[in-house]
Amino acid sequence: MRLDRFIGNHSEYTRTQIHRLIKSRCVRVNDILAKSPSVKIKTESDVITVDKHVIRDRGNVYLMLNKPVGYVSATVDADHPTVIDLIADNHNALTPTTFEHLPPIASLQVVGRLDIDTTGLILITNDGQWNHKVSAPNTKCQKRYRAELAQAIADDAKARFAEGMQLKGENKNTQAAELKILSPNTAEVAICEGKYHQVKRMFAATGNKVVALHRFAIGQLELDNTLAPGQYRLLDEHETNLTLT
Ligand code: URA
Repeated sequence: MRLDRFIGNHSEYTRTQIHRLIKSRCVRVNDILAKSPSVKIKTESDVITVDKHVIRDRGNVYLMLNKPVGYVSATVDADHPTVIDLIADNHNALTPTTFEHLPPIASLQVVGRLDIDTTGLILITNDGQWNHKVSAPNTKCQKRYRAELAQAIADDAKARFAEGMQLKGENKNTQAAELKILSPNTAEVAICEGKYHQVKRMFAATGNKVVALHRFAIGQLELDNTLAPGQYRLLDEHETNLTLT
């Protein structure tokens, strides 16, 4: 991992401060002056110091958050509050101790994306590899949604979701999706991809309109129903692995 990234992930220094510290000869790797922010370090064995203080690996963190309507799934946004803003306010932690375990907010990434008006399970981490495994369509990690529709679901919708369909502006068909009809206007949908507005566009292709969308599971991990909208909590190791099954 790059030296500047490691320090950024495991301390409160900003990227600009880190670059200045390296330039001012305050950063050492195994007691040797670091010359460049991009130098590669071995996170398991190298000892990194800033002004003689050791920067310890704070480890990876995995959070689930119950996203409310009105928040965007991004780290920063000029127009709307983000899910990361909810994390930055420790009142939203399910238990007060959760917040103390967090690495710097700047190191957190949002796993995948939910539309501003979609609610439910969103994952947040500082582990880029895990983020990739959960989000990449080829890893076949299912995302499950409950959708409420404006009109009765078409008779052929289940078959069309299962076959895959061509969405406007896409050159490849969608991957097979499962549709479970719960009532004339509500259904559960399971998809492995995360194309832009995918569930809404799939229903639109059947002549219908999604009026409410809620994600309740990623892989085998279900949203903790004790989390009120806007609340979050840490995942344990078992739960982290459930997302990949
Ligand atoms: N599909 C959508 O249309 N919107 C979401 O937020 C997620 C999946």
